[in-house]
Parts: sequence; C-alpha cells; structure tokens
Amino acid sequence: MSDLRSVFVDEGVLDINYIPPKLLHRNEEKRLLEHFFDYLLSAPYEMSQRAIIVGGVGTGKTALAQLFGRELLEKAKKRRVKVRYIHVNCRELRGSLFMILRRVVKIMRPDFPERGYAANELMEMLMQLLAEEDMQLLLTLDEVDSLIETEGTDALYTLTRVQEGSSEESRRLSLLCITKDINILRKLDKSTLSSLQRSLIQLKEYSSPQLSSILLSRAEAAFRKEAIPLEVIDFISELATQEHGDARYAIDLLWRAGKYADLEMSRQINVNHVRKAVPSVFPTLKEEYINHLNLHELYVLLAISRFFKSKNLPNASTGEVELLYKVVCEEYGEKPRGHTQFWKYLNQLKGFDAVNIKMDSSSQGRTQLISLTKIPAEDLEKEVLRLIEQK
Ligand SMILES: Nc1ncnc2c1ncn2[C@@H]1O[C@H](COP(=O)(O)OP(=O)(O)OP(=O)(O)O)[C@@H](O)[C@H]1O
Ligand SMILES: [Mg+2]
Repeated sequence: MSDLRSVFVDEGVLDINYIPPKLLHRNEEKRLLEHFFDYLLSAPYEMSQRAIIVGGVGTGKTALAQLFGRELLEKAKKRRVKVRYIHVNCRELRGSLFMILRRVVKIMRPDFPERGYAANELMEMLMQLLAEEDMQLLLTLDEVDSLIETEGTDALYTLTRVQEGSSEESRRLSLLCITKDINILRKLDKSTLSSLQRSLIQLKEYSSPQLSSILLSRAEAAFRKEAIPLEVIDFISELATQEHGDARYAIDLLWRAGKYADLEMSRQINVNHVRKAVPSVFPTLKEEYINHLNLHELYVLLAISRFFKSKNLPNASTGEVELLYKVVCEEYGEKPRGHTQFWKYLNQLKGFDAVNIKMDSSSQGRTQLISLTKIPAEDLEKEVLRLIEQK
C-alpha cells in the first residue's frame, strides 16, 4: 500500500537505475542500432561488428544501449539464436581491461575464481567460453573513454582484433562503445577508428518539449494522479534544458521536488518545491563525473571550494587558487606540482559546469577568473574531501 499522504505512488520509477520500458525521441537511433547488429540474428557467427554511441550527459546513451540489449535478447530467444548482451561501465571498473574482462567472465561463469589470471588469459578464456557455449556476445563498453585513458588504445585494439588472429571461423564477439567525448576517437589507430566511424550514433541534446514529454511519462507512473501540474513539468524541463538537455538531471529534480512536497504535506508539487530542489541536485557533481579526477585535480577543486568558503566574492584569480592549492598539498604531505601542471589540472575542471573558468579581460597576462556557480562552497568541499579520503 502506498502512503496516502505522499504524492508518490511508485518512487522507483524515478530511480537512477530504472530502465524505462521505452525511450521517447530515440526511435531513429534505436533503429540504427538494430540495423548495425542485425546480423547477430539474421546471419549468426558471420560477422563481428563494433559501433559507438556518442552524446552529452543524460542524453540517454546508457538507457538506449540497455533497452536495445534487452530487446535483442527477446528477439534472439524467439528465433532460437544464441546471443548474450553484457553491459559494463568502464569507469566503474577503473578503466582497467583486466577488471572489465574479469567482470565479463564472472557474469558468464559466476563460479569463476576471482584471482590468478592476467588480462590476456582472461581474454582467451572469454573466447573459449563463448566457443564452448557456441554463443555470440554483444559487449557494451559504457564510458569507454575511461578504458582508453587508462590503458591507451591497445585495449580496444585487442578487443576488436581478438578474433582475427584465431583459426576459428565463427565470429562471436561484437562491441558497442559509449562515450560522452567524441575526441577520444582521435586517439585510436586508423583501422579501429574507421570501423567505429562507420557505425556511429550521435544523440542530440533533448529540447525542452522533449524533456517535458519524458518527464510526463515518468510522472504518470511515479505520482498520484494530479499530483503534478503540467506547468511544473515544463518548469523543470526549462531548467534541464539549461543543463544541456540532461534528462537525468530533470528526473532527479522531479523526484526531489516530490520529496519537498511530501515534507510540506502538500498534495501537489508546485514550482516552489522545484526551486527548493534545485540547490540539492548538482547536475555536474555526481560522483561519476568527479570520480575520474586524479588526486591533484581534486586538490585544486578543494582549493577552489576553500577560497569561496572563506571569501564572499564572485571570482577567484588563478594565482589565488594556485596559492591555496599549495597549502592543500602541504596539508596532505604532497609536493605541489609546477605552474604548468597546475594549469593542466585547472583545465581538467573545465568539464564541470559547476566550476566556471574564463579569461580575465581586465588583465594583460594569462590570468583567468574562476567562479563557482551551481554548488555552495561548503557542499563542494565536503564532497571533495570525501573523494580524497577514498583515494
Ligand atoms: N528518451 C528517453 N525517454 C525516457 N527516459 C529517458 C530518455 N532518455 C534518458 N532517459 C532517462 O534519463 C536518465 C539518464 O539517461 P542515461 O543514463 O541513459 O544518460 P547517459 O547519456 O548515459 O548519461 P551519462 O553520459 O551521464 O552516462 C535515465 O534515467 C534514463 O532512463
Ligand atoms: Mg550513461
């Protein structure tokens, strides 16, 4: 029984890991995926394909791949074709080929021992398992940039070439890569690149009306009837459009706004609940975005948060932040890196919307102004401290 005093009837629908039964506004892209991997069903074991999905934060890349995988399996079952779909997030597995392969093998053989194998052995083992089960595998490498950053391009090369050297006729392993950053393609060798480019699917940012319809379909399942007026949905869509059409942000806001409504024992969610929710949802500070920062980049972020915590100013200069960065390094007993390196760290942080870095037009030299836009300095500090702790 759901709580009669709550606006929610099924909160789970707004959960981060919920995969909706269908994706709105992504039909064409899904059809492309079906087209690229059609041979798995129509001409099994004859080819091995790789494709790549590129798109910004919250454009539905992960959901699209997972939904496609789910449907692929249903079709395969009907046609009695042997296919498996395995989806791994490379960043979660620290971009390590070894950890990725171990995860895949473990999914195929849950009783597989944890220890004692190197990456190349695991690779062989995987191919052997597939041969034994006479199975085709579509492996999705989500956030593949992390794999390339950590292992260089060799790992992907190995994965795409593994079958070509073998004497076996059957093609069993196909790859679907996912990335936010199309620039990683430039790092690849020519042949891996060209095979990926031929099957590239680009997801555009959602527009505000598109976000509204996505939100509406979730809201219908998540909330009591009439608990959320249309204008509130549109209000959230507008906010998420400013976050580059990030559907995850939109859904998160929807959920938290519902929480605020419950807190006030209101029967309906209103725009004020949304406004209250905004500061607690940081679109760009989710763990997955800051998790890949290295220690010194986190130190720089900590320096930025400390600056704004102690001073009620809109901007910090790079000099001021660099000074605090050195203090932070001392605190952790680390040697601060040189000026050039500091600039590189700062550049890494440009990826976050929450930290804004722009040239100082009033200065002649290479000074930049840093500001913190979407998160209170105290919250940022807390979060960064937690991450440093973990490392
Ligand atoms: N077209 C859509 N219809 C319904 N729900 C969607 C759609 N697109 C995205 N979503 C939902 O929005 C959220 C974010 O989507 P998803 O995780 O797939 O984004 P992503 O592109 O993988 O983002 P990131 O790059 O941050 O990993 C998920 O909850 C997903 O179910
Ligand atoms: Mg994703």
